Amino acid sequence: MADQAFVTLATNDNYARGAMVLGKSLRNHNTSRKLVVLIGPHVTEPCQAVLKRIYDEVKVVNVLDSGDKAHLAMMNRPDLGVTLTKLHGWTLTHYSKCVFMDADTLVVSNIDELFDREELSAAPDPGWPDCFNSGVFVYRPSLETYGKLLQYCTEHGSFDGGDQGVLNGYFSNWSTADISKHLPFIYNLSSIAIYTYLPAFKQYGGNAKVVHFLGKTKPWSYTFDPKTKKISGNMQDAAMHSTFLVDWWTLYSNAVVPMLHQQYGDQTFHSGCVELFFSDVVTFESRFIQEQEEPEPSPAQALPPPNVSSAERKEMWEQGQADYMGTDSFANIQRKLDSFLK
Ligand code: UDP
Ligand code: GLC
Ligand code: MN
Repeated sequence: MADQAFVTLATNDNYARGAMVLGKSLRNHNTSRKLVVLIGPHVTEPCQAVLKRIYDEVKVVNVLDSGDKAHLAMMNRPDLGVTLTKLHGWTLTHYSKCVFMDADTLVVSNIDELFDREELSAAPDPGWPDCFNSGVFVYRPSLETYGKLLQYCTEHGSFDGGDQGVLNGYFSNWSTADISKHLPFIYNLSSIAIYTYLPAFKQYGGNAKVVHFLGKTKPWSYTFDPKTKKISGNMQDAAMHSTFLVDWWTLYSNAVVPMLHQQYGDQTFHSGCVELFFSDVVTFESRFIQEQEEPEPSPAQALPPPNVSSAERKEMWEQGQADYMGTDSFANIQRKLDSFLK
């Protein structure tokens, strides 16, 4: 057990906050494994200090960046070149087996059984299920594999500009070779599934073990009022995250913010928690989001834009180009959820 670890990565203070919540969630569910966070040199001193309180090991690594603007632009995520830094996980050879988890994941029940799996085990990616999603995966640290992965990057690059493209290229027989390396989706339940397959989410979402806030808008992109448990920010994206977003914020504000306050002392720092009441706030009362005080859209707004098929619209949504004011407006999404639930 002491030679097995959960590993995550944070190259900046925002992802570091994600890592703090992830680490706390693993501890709260009584993991018996070690916790390791790889950090970039830009994570500030107070955040490093908090990470040291939660993690057994905080390791500074140099940031690997694909710099592959062309491929990253296809995903509308210019920031993801640095995810190649994840590959450093293979250098942790004082562990025999590890489970890597993105810093934007949250553990909602004990997942130590993942260590029964072999390299490379992962769940399907919701956008292309013959690829695995690299937000949660089981692997074996090895300098030999690390070297081969870097060599793969040099020779073939990454088809998505990030680590997921490299890893799927390298472990290319994942989809067909061995079903035991396919983790159930509940170990990497990405929020996008709520939009793409709502009935399945309704049926199985309650069994989630790991929630993944995949996509551009992260939990820390919002603000939260701990007293009322109200979230504010981009509510169209919040609709995708369901009540898991409140779970993330509740853990962050109860367990992490007090530690950050201690470390920052008198220095100004913004936790993201608010005391004020925002008018654009939504309450999460059930598994789905209840709408408050949002005006009904005019009939014109409720109509889908002409000449855009539903497949095209889905693609735009997945690329982060949702039609927020029209078809994909919060009120329309809410209506769709309501009609499914009836
Ligand atoms: N990451 C990081 N700094 C960044 C971007 C990403 O440390 O600027 C790490 C972090 O662990 C994050 C992972 O790389 O969870 C993958 O990125 P992200 O979760 O944003 O990708 P997504 O899951 O949304 O595709
Ligand atoms: C993804 C994965 C993430 C990865 C990124 C870049 O969508 O969720 O973990 O870092 O692609 O490859
Ligand atoms: Mn992620």
